[in-house]
Amino acid sequence: MARVSASVYTSHVPAIGAALDLGKSGEPYWQKVFAGYEFSKQWLRENRPDVIFLVYNDHATAFSLEIIPTFAIGTAAEYAIADEGWGPRPVPKVTGHPELAAHVAQSVIQDDFDLTIVNRMDVDHGLTVPLSLMCGAQDPDAGAWPCPVIPFAVNVVQYPVPSGRRCLALGRAIRKAIASFDAPLNVQVWGTGGMSHQLQGPRAGLINREWDNRFLDRLIADPDGLAQMPHVEYVREAGSEGIELVMWLIARGAMSEGRPRVRHRFYHVPASNTAVGHLILEST
Ligand code: DHB
Ligand code: FE
Repeated sequence: MARVSASVYTSHVPAIGAALDLGKSGEPYWQKVFAGYEFSKQWLRENRPDVIFLVYNDHATAFSLEIIPTFAIGTAAEYAIADEGWGPRPVPKVTGHPELAAHVAQSVIQDDFDLTIVNRMDVDHGLTVPLSLMCGAQDPDAGAWPCPVIPFAVNVVQYPVPSGRRCLALGRAIRKAIASFDAPLNVQVWGTGGMSHQLQGPRAGLINREWDNRFLDRLIADPDGLAQMPHVEYVREAGSEGIELVMWLIARGAMSEGRPRVRHRFYHVPASNTAVGHLILEST
């Protein structure tokens, strides 16, 4: 049977992708960001999964603002890199895992979570920047990321967005689905986006270190309590784009019950307009 061995949490920022793609990762500003992922790259090489189930948000790229699914699972064999205005990032295309994705869709939908099934989409910085942070710069011509990826897109762009409570419960349904897949796959579930940031309006540039670190503490030790937090608190305390953090509760719900082993924790401000948070939790 397949199992969730670990979960990874990380912010995404388009400028991080640009820093890597333009060869600026050694500059002092970016070095402080990438330093937090040195352990993680080594850890991923040593704990290479068979599949990454990557929870992220699309930024009006694949779905535009015409149709916005709340939860969408990618069931395709591959995904092209999106053009977000400057041409697609020069990174390998993303290989999917249609069999496991279809199985998770079947199981989770039968567990009363209404997923949108996506057979074709391009993936934006929400998915490719976490991959780049964890895998390092990749040669687009060398072919592939370390393993297949199942993209799982969550609407955090247009209200109403799903509650933390629902995200945690969905993560638990995803764990159950993975555990009933009849192949011995080692699966990691990644939760991405956040931490505090606000990109527009009078509060643009908002960062809240204390709140972010408390969020990390509670994600580790008290996910059920954290899942009760209403949207208005995310927006008030972590800024309008801080709501991306609800996605971390999906990955947390996919972990086995009981306290996970914290392998790595990192927090840094600034990266572009965003506070970068990063955790690696292993199943015990
Ligand atoms: C930034 C952060 C985001 O989450 C995003 O989607 C776009 C930009 C930023 O910090 O610049
Ligand atoms: Fe974002």
